[in-house]
Amino acid sequence: MLAKVTSCALVGLEGVLVDVEVDTSRGLPSLVIVGLPDVAVKESSERVRAAIKNSGLVFPGKRITVNLAPADIRKAGPAYDLPIAVGVLIASEQVWPQQVEGALFIGELSLDGSVRHVNGILPVAALAHQQGIPRVFVPACDAPEAALIDGLEVIPVESVGQLAAHLQGLRAVPPYGRDLDPSSLPLPPYAADFAEIKGQEHVKRALEVAAAGGHNCLLTGPPGAGKTLLARSMPSILPTMTVDESLEVTKIYSIAGLLPEDTPLIRHRPFRAPHHSISHAGLVGGGNWPRPGEISLAHRGVLFLDELPEFGTRTLEGMRQPLEDRHVSIARAAGTLTFPANFMFIAEMNPCPCGYYGDPVRECTCSMQTISRYQKRISGPLLDRIDIHVEVPRVDVEKLTADRLGERSEAIRARVEEARAVQRKRFADTPLSSNADMGPTEVRAICQLSEDGRALVKAAMQQLGMSARAFHRILKLARTIADLAGSERIETPHLAEAIQYRPRRMA
Ligand SMILES: Nc1ncnc2c1ncn2[C@@H]1O[C@H](COP(=O)(O)OP(=O)(O)O)[C@@H](O)[C@H]1O
Ligand SMILES: [Mg+2]
Repeated sequence: MLAKVTSCALVGLEGVLVDVEVDTSRGLPSLVIVGLPDVAVKESSERVRAAIKNSGLVFPGKRITVNLAPADIRKAGPAYDLPIAVGVLIASEQVWPQQVEGALFIGELSLDGSVRHVNGILPVAALAHQQGIPRVFVPACDAPEAALIDGLEVIPVESVGQLAAHLQGLRAVPPYGRDLDPSSLPLPPYAADFAEIKGQEHVKRALEVAAAGGHNCLLTGPPGAGKTLLARSMPSILPTMTVDESLEVTKIYSIAGLLPEDTPLIRHRPFRAPHHSISHAGLVGGGNWPRPGEISLAHRGVLFLDELPEFGTRTLEGMRQPLEDRHVSIARAAGTLTFPANFMFIAEMNPCPCGYYGDPVRECTCSMQTISRYQKRISGPLLDRIDIHVEVPRVDVEKLTADRLGERSEAIRARVEEARAVQRKRFADTPLSSNADMGPTEVRAICQLSEDGRALVKAAMQQLGMSARAFHRILKLARTIADLAGSERIETPHLAEAIQYRPRRMA
């Protein structure tokens, strides 16, 4: 008898429906899986056999052939154990085929028949819903994740025995109740508060502007000035994500297998700070079975690169395209795969190898040549993609030892939220979410300048030798500064502040 069970494969971030066909025929007892399976799928046959036997069900002593269709997409991972087991139960007439109509199955099996966690449940559930499949059977531990998709019936499965009893109508498993409203989950505590960072008011302001418009930012200054501390405090002033943004981010983490067990939905913007020894594939994504890289794990959040010149040049250059496109395309033999990568890029560096170039107190011991070589490790095109360049001088002892606390992150975040609300309204009917996302067309339409403003930008462009890209970046940044000020128009002071954030090569 031929049985057909619906399951799902993941290609990048998107799900694709997979038909699991199970056929039994007379012959030597065996279980063969066809349809481009990888090693994990082959091992699946052993798990399915043991799981069914150990659940008090009958494993048919027949020749069993399992086909995963369509054959041209590669299926990885053990997620097909459960649909294969269900197919075997149908093919051996222990479960009726009608019972699995309108349902999608996914899950890994243990030898004892219990059902284990699989990665990527959220995109699977999203696909089911989109394809009009009303019900999904998922590992019980993954049910909260699947239940994030509104209007989908999620049946949490603990074991094959429990599932068989449910499908046989003996003991129904109640659907997972969506017990939390995702928007009411508390935000996690932050690592540091801006109030505890002494001085550096102009850097805090720059980071506020960055957070408000989603702009990239580079901090340069001597060692111990607080650059890393400032950057790591960013999460405390980032605006909250919309529910849609949360779902996008959660999908990526779900596929990467990085979703924390107790967090079905990621509510806070990611903050990724990979070490400078990271590989090209680790940063931008890739590998044999392509995985999202750090730039995708930082989607809708921050990618922080500490000590930027220490990163490999090739590694950094890999970010140029994604920084522009806001997604990354990974070439595969079977076609191109795309992962989202819309992140704020925050980096910090010393001005020179010894770290003290330009410091008013300590003398720099580097030659002009070494300084120039050091700074050239970051290519012009990459620097050009950074909207905000700030110098972080050493804080003087007076300020450092003063008891006075600065403004709390909460207050800064409140302003950031207001500026984001303006942008959400502005971009309501577009795929854009912040000023930094604007392309040349939107910049032309939205960032209109006054006569005075135009004259100011023209003068600055000539003096600083700016590219056309730099010009657009200034306008976008000025738009954010105006949004923070609650101003409908971009006024000259907004432009002046934006221009001041352009880079000045020191050597
Ligand atoms: N402005 C500051 N306010 C309070 N502490 C500071 C400040 N700047 C530096 N520090 C202290 O110095 C340490 C080193 O700063 P760090 O951020 O690593 O400097 P950098 O990255 O510029 O070399 C911090 O962990 C913090 O304890
Ligand atoms: Mg540092």
